[in-house]
Amino acid sequence: MLTGAPAIHHLLRHRWITGCRYLSAIISGFSLFIVLLLTLTSWLHKPTIKPLNPLIPLDPDLVDLTLLRNATEKNAVCLDGSLPGYHLQRGSGSGAESWVLHLQGGGWCSTVDSCSSRQETPLGSSHYMPRQALFVGILSQSSSLNPDFYNWNRVKIRYCDGGSFSGDTMVQAKNGRKLFFKGQRIWEAIIDELLSEGLGKSKQAFLTGCSAGGLATFIHCDNFRALMPKGANVKCLADAGFFLDEKDISGKRTMQSFYNEVVRLQDVGRNLPNECTKRTKPSQCFFPRELIKTIKTPFFIVNPGYDFWQIQHILVPKASDPELHWLRCKKNIHHCDSNQIYVLQGYRTSMLDALSEFQHKKDAGMFINSCYMHCQTANNITWHSPTSPRINNKTIAEAVGDWYFGRREVKDIDCPYPCNPTCYHMNFN
Ligand SMILES: *[C@@H]1O[C@H](CO)[C@@H](O)[C@H](O)[C@H]1NC(C)=O
Ligand SMILES: *[C@@H]1O[C@H](CO)[C@@H](O)[C@H](O)[C@H]1NC(C)=O
Ligand SMILES: *[C@@H]1O[C@H](CO)[C@@H](O)[C@H](O)[C@H]1NC(C)=O
Repeated sequence: MLTGAPAIHHLLRHRWITGCRYLSAIISGFSLFIVLLLTLTSWLHKPTIKPLNPLIPLDPDLVDLTLLRNATEKNAVCLDGSLPGYHLQRGSGSGAESWVLHLQGGGWCSTVDSCSSRQETPLGSSHYMPRQALFVGILSQSSSLNPDFYNWNRVKIRYCDGGSFSGDTMVQAKNGRKLFFKGQRIWEAIIDELLSEGLGKSKQAFLTGCSAGGLATFIHCDNFRALMPKGANVKCLADAGFFLDEKDISGKRTMQSFYNEVVRLQDVGRNLPNECTKRTKPSQCFFPRELIKTIKTPFFIVNPGYDFWQIQHILVPKASDPELHWLRCKKNIHHCDSNQIYVLQGYRTSMLDALSEFQHKKDAGMFINSCYMHCQTANNITWHSPTSPRINNKTIAEAVGDWYFGRREVKDIDCPYPCNPTCYHMNFN
């Protein structure tokens, strides 16, 4: 209606030119009346509670947020002390006793100041979380978009602790408020509640997560399996969670220093596998390359060889490129010059090196495509559609399903950029 107004004015101007002044006055008066009438009726019909509006069909892919009951007494709280939460859509039919869990990502905070700012965001407080989440990709309930898991119980677990669900301490912030680093307790309390919601009777369970949530999957996978019923088929998947301990382009260990700070501030060390922390310092055990050595549960790694988060924060953090030579390239891989592509190829090679031991494990699955992306499983474009990225003509959904159900061995490694025409590359412009 509002978008139609310029067209009406154009029409009126045209009529005026042709001389029908009288008629145009009537039309403009009438259309003003209609606009007022429609505004009034839409105002009168304005619903106070959105889901009750009968005129807008409910989107079945939107799933309500559940805040964790009794979280405060367990000290399982977000950065600001608020309740953590999750979104659950129940399975049905053959999927009624199967569960797929997805841990949300969103980076980390490593200083009192940055964690204090995070308290005012959905990644640090449930007061700011959206009340509904869109379930797409591996969380989709559509059999054509999510062929193997669409009728399972599907859960998105919200991330609000800033330490990949693995800190356990508390500090005083400068603003006088407390900062809660209770990721480990949030993890335990949410799994506890889901166990009582049916997860405790599951026949198949699949723990997944993306980015910082993918890292959490590496950290909690074996513990998750230990909590599942005996005989259940339990597996894990980390999507874009294989963060490398690489030097940046200026030669600095930016990522290593950052993980050092996160682990120290949030006291993550004691929740990392003993097997690793007795061998090396805790912050090294926050890197998947070390974590993966300790994991006994069947594990799948989905990661692009040119993970844009890693390129932008590990390989070329802002401080390493003060003259912004990399700006265009970081925004769009097609704009990288040949030297930059050479550096990116080196990064992919480092990733494949870091994965080489894992690759030879019997239960291991992997899908390392050559796309400029980050997080491809809970995303409807990249998970499974006619235009999704493929390796050997298989989408990520097909590769993950083939591996989970043992239909074939899946160790899919793409040829280097720019060989794969099916890639979906992120464009920040
Ligand atoms: C929450 O706490 C109350 C009282 O302590 C208890 O009765 C109830 O079972 C608890 N609920 C959960 C989900 O733990
Ligand atoms: C993905 O979801 C968005 C938003 O719901 C929609 O516009 C788009 O068409 C979907 N794409 C595919 C490939 O399903
Ligand atoms: C690729 O897979 C699709 C089904 O997903 C199939 O229709 C097509 O024939 C396959 N293409 C090749 C080249 O194998």
